[in-house]
Amino acid sequence: MPGTPQRYTVTAALPYANGPVHIGHLAGVYLPADIYVRYLRAQQRDVKFICGSDEHGVPITIRAQKEGVTPQQVVDKYHAIIRDSFQEFGVSFDIYSRTSSTTHAETASGFFKQLYEDDKFIEQTSEQYYDEKADQFLADRYIVGTCPNCGNDNAYGDQCEKCGTSLSPTELINPRSMLSGNSPILRETKHWYLPLDQYEPWLREWIVEGHKNDWKTNVYGQCKSWIDQGLHPRAVTRDLDWGVPVPVPGAEGKVLYVWFDAPIGYISATKDLLPGDAWKPYWQDAGTKLVHFIGKDNIVFHCIIFPAMLKAHGDYILPDNVPANEFLNLEGDKISTSRNWAVWLHEYLQDFPGKADVLRYVLCANAPENKDNDFTWKDFQARNNNELVANLGNFVNRALVLTHKFFAGKVPAAVGFTTEDEDVLRQLGEFPARIGELIDNYRFRDALNELMNLTRLGNKYLADTEPWKLIKTDEARTGTVLHVALQLAASLVTLMEPFLPYSAEKLGTMLNLEKGAWSAAGRPDSLATGHQLAAAALLFDKIEDATVEAQVQKLLDTKKANELAAAVAAPAKDDVSFEQFQTMDLRIGTIVAAEKVAKTKKLLKLSVDLGFDEPRTIVSGIAEHFLPEALVGQQVQVLLNLAPREIKGIQSQGMLLMAENADGSLSLMQPSSHVRPGSSIA
Ligand code: MF3
Ligand code: ZN
Repeated sequence: MPGTPQRYTVTAALPYANGPVHIGHLAGVYLPADIYVRYLRAQQRDVKFICGSDEHGVPITIRAQKEGVTPQQVVDKYHAIIRDSFQEFGVSFDIYSRTSSTTHAETASGFFKQLYEDDKFIEQTSEQYYDEKADQFLADRYIVGTCPNCGNDNAYGDQCEKCGTSLSPTELINPRSMLSGNSPILRETKHWYLPLDQYEPWLREWIVEGHKNDWKTNVYGQCKSWIDQGLHPRAVTRDLDWGVPVPVPGAEGKVLYVWFDAPIGYISATKDLLPGDAWKPYWQDAGTKLVHFIGKDNIVFHCIIFPAMLKAHGDYILPDNVPANEFLNLEGDKISTSRNWAVWLHEYLQDFPGKADVLRYVLCANAPENKDNDFTWKDFQARNNNELVANLGNFVNRALVLTHKFFAGKVPAAVGFTTEDEDVLRQLGEFPARIGELIDNYRFRDALNELMNLTRLGNKYLADTEPWKLIKTDEARTGTVLHVALQLAASLVTLMEPFLPYSAEKLGTMLNLEKGAWSAAGRPDSLATGHQLAAAALLFDKIEDATVEAQVQKLLDTKKANELAAAVAAPAKDDVSFEQFQTMDLRIGTIVAAEKVAKTKKLLKLSVDLGFDEPRTIVSGIAEHFLPEALVGQQVQVLLNLAPREIKGIQSQGMLLMAENADGSLSLMQPSSHVRPGSSIA
């Protein structure tokens, strides 16, 4: 788009209201979008930032089934949680709407109807899986079966999560319905298809030729490979009872495919924000720059299918850019809602109240812009302590505290700049354009790094000039140094605002300064001589080892719980006769002494009272699981007549019975109340 756009419509992917949002969402989509929008606002651009909950589709109905509630209850619950999380993290949508709204039903329905009336669809009958017991057609996600590629028994109808192959339901071996467990039958059903193949030449020209140089390589590459593989008609309706009903004759029991209705949700939300005709310029005027922020799994929908829909409709502008990000992993593992492997935004704020900016900072500094990245708590702590506290916070704090100490909190006069001062001020003046250009190009990590270079410059300036020493010999010069340092601090109120909005506001309060226009942020005279500062407070504080260790422990607990949940019982052994069983002499004994067997890791030597004159000696390989002193006095099950054998020179006369947990840990098998040693078990 040549020249400066007249206005901007910035959208962030509508999250499914089937669970809370986590750091992956924030890092990949909502944070970059928010930084971009805040930056545009700082330039007084006309911008609307649009989002809302995606409340239709199979992800919602599956969650409802799992929780044993209705789809409406699911979306009501998670819509509220998600909306609040975004708000608490300062994601500054102009509207956060939802696709269950009436505006949306009308807009999506109207959109479909127009395409239908303009003959943009093809109608096609095909055979699809139907669950006779549940009396409904099965969405791809409702069918599981064996993956033809890797043999995984629990592959979904659209994808095998084990080997990553994308599948169609009819490729599954032994398909079963997730609703009833039955094997589904094939039944004919009619659907409406958007003939994407007809848009192929146009898409090729628009994307492959037209956006070669301005779309991110990951986005461009995915689009090109889709187009090169050849596009096919795509069904835009489904046999489901949750969604926007298909508004044409002969479509009873059918709804719009969620990926047809959801992106129209951007338009509906804009209507909710700007009723009447006011929404129109944001979607229909060629002077509007439309930007979609999404994660990489949404690329095909935003770059190919939705644009083809918009093109088919004819009244709408197309996205200027779709800066999709890759994925963020957590401590080396893929983030997963179902495995609870995530840092949930609402939980983070409970554990780190008032620290929304810290997470914003870490997620932007480590954003998965060009490749998947990993979030670790160690890195979180290090970035907070070494970058936010020691660099940014330290600079601001020194400038303010010294001004309070030496000049009663009033901006001191500058009495002649040295070349060093001039140099710092010149560099300061270059930062707004430099940071801005990076944001304009969706390079948020680099932009944030430049911001930190600015505070690094400030710290170096103070370290070189040493105003805390200078005051003893030259008060006027000290004043000049602090004057310069304070101008730099003042520029931060504006320049850090897109990244760290809460801290920027705090800093503004301390400096007694409103944030200004972006371009003016690097000026050497933002704070007039004599301007009164407010009290200084710390912008950031150190995060201790114990705090992050607790978070790591929480994840380890999750991992363990997942392993236990995934564990399956070992297959049954061959049958034994009752007579065979009766040959085993099983008893309860009481451990009266225990000690480690010297020079071994695993062995304990136990003395067990089994009701005879002398306790028996039993050698057991449990030293890695129990401390000897903790065993004394415990009752245990013993196989008394296991043939004695010598272990490490000790005669072992029996065997302790233990339960082995899925994670390999052992539990003693104890009677529910104390029994006389030697009692038999039968
Ligand atoms: N709900 C989808 C997801 O979470 C994103 C929908 S984006 C929209 O992957 F454009 F369709 F709204
Ligand atoms: Zn597979």
